[in-house]
Amino acid sequence: MQLIDNFNFAGKKAIVRVDFNVPLNKETGEVSDDTRIRGALPTIKKILADGGSAILMSHMGRPKQNPDPKFSLKQIIPAIEKNIGQKIQFVDDCMKADAQVAALKPGEVLLLENLRFYEEEEGKPRGEFETEEAKADAKQKDFAKKLASYADVYVNDAFGTAHRAHGSTAIIADYFDAGNKMFGFLINSELKAMDKVLNESQKPFTAIMGGAKVSDKIMIIENLLDRVDNLIIGGGMTYTFIKAQGGNIGNSLCEADKLDLALEVLKKAEEKGVKVYLPTDAVNADKFDPEANTIISKTNETPDGWMGLDIADETIKTFSDVIANSKTVLWNGPMGVFEFEKFAKGTSAIAHAVAQATANGAFTLIGGGDSVAAINKNKLGDKVSYVSTGNTWKEKFFRASKQFAGNKHRIKEAV
Ligand code: 3PG
Ligand code: MG
Repeated sequence: MQLIDNFNFAGKKAIVRVDFNVPLNKETGEVSDDTRIRGALPTIKKILADGGSAILMSHMGRPKQNPDPKFSLKQIIPAIEKNIGQKIQFVDDCMKADAQVAALKPGEVLLLENLRFYEEEEGKPRGEFETEEAKADAKQKDFAKKLASYADVYVNDAFGTAHRAHGSTAIIADYFDAGNKMFGFLINSELKAMDKVLNESQKPFTAIMGGAKVSDKIMIIENLLDRVDNLIIGGGMTYTFIKAQGGNIGNSLCEADKLDLALEVLKKAEEKGVKVYLPTDAVNADKFDPEANTIISKTNETPDGWMGLDIADETIKTFSDVIANSKTVLWNGPMGVFEFEKFAKGTSAIAHAVAQATANGAFTLIGGGDSVAAINKNKLGDKVSYVSTGNTWKEKFFRASKQFAGNKHRIKEAV
């Protein structure tokens, strides 16, 4: 398999699949978190420094029509230019780039419009996790072939999209020979960080799982039970566990059909000797609103009409102590509704605890858009070991983890 480190891009046109599916500020339209753009820089800079040119391609969102200005990559040009430090060119139809590609000179960058403006990018549904061999139909093959025709070399650096077998992430690789396709620096470093956590973790290993739903996280949690010493649970999913244990949860979020599952997780954890930490106290709101009234209560004594939206001080202290004593920390998902200032304290405290653990020598990996946003909001991005660009550290992500099927660039189940 070709390695980007050894490749010389001089005089070559490289088509690079990046994941620039970045969040935009709803009011200003500006990129509100450019972690994924920064993540792709080492690959782009290497191509340019070698004397090659880069054709960048990405999806954004899930558009239903072509074109749809709401999902246009045009919006993120300023953010890309700021990061690369030079002007870039743009072509507003990814299937009609021939002229601009032909005119592209070494050192220049061309961005293609959103790949998902064409349904061929995603192709026909291939099952929930898309880990099976991509079965491209003729139309999807033509789409991928056209993209491939723009370049001499293919680089896949779209880690956040690694669980998808799409035209630009999987099928396209068939149109390059083994020496002319490779993963970029971002994918390589993400895999290394993940490997460190999953296969070389120092103990105690603590996983912090937050977010709204147990159902979203169940596979990753089950997977982690074989590896971790401590499992910290926070966020909305807390209340499915609390309710399952017979607590009063008021109006808090609850997946009524996941109560048995929650109990099963707790039982499995006990069997495996994993210590589970659930929030013991919470900041409750009288409505889901940034300006809601608040009261503190035990999580299992939430008053009627109130809902838990953040962890409170006792829990913050317990969680922070566990994190501080860990040698490996994996964090995915916020502790509360941190988008609302009134309910951001718990998530910020966890971000600081993770940074402190890092200062104490732990290896800490932050995965998942919300936890990454929380780390960045607290300006702690350089105080943790690794900030992943994988948006959702969910089941798909773990399945799509680290084994890519050789030169085919197809992702196989690894865990
Ligand atoms: C993501 O943000 O999860 C990736 O960019 C993939 O996007 P998707 O979930 O729409 O395929
Ligand atoms: Mg997604």
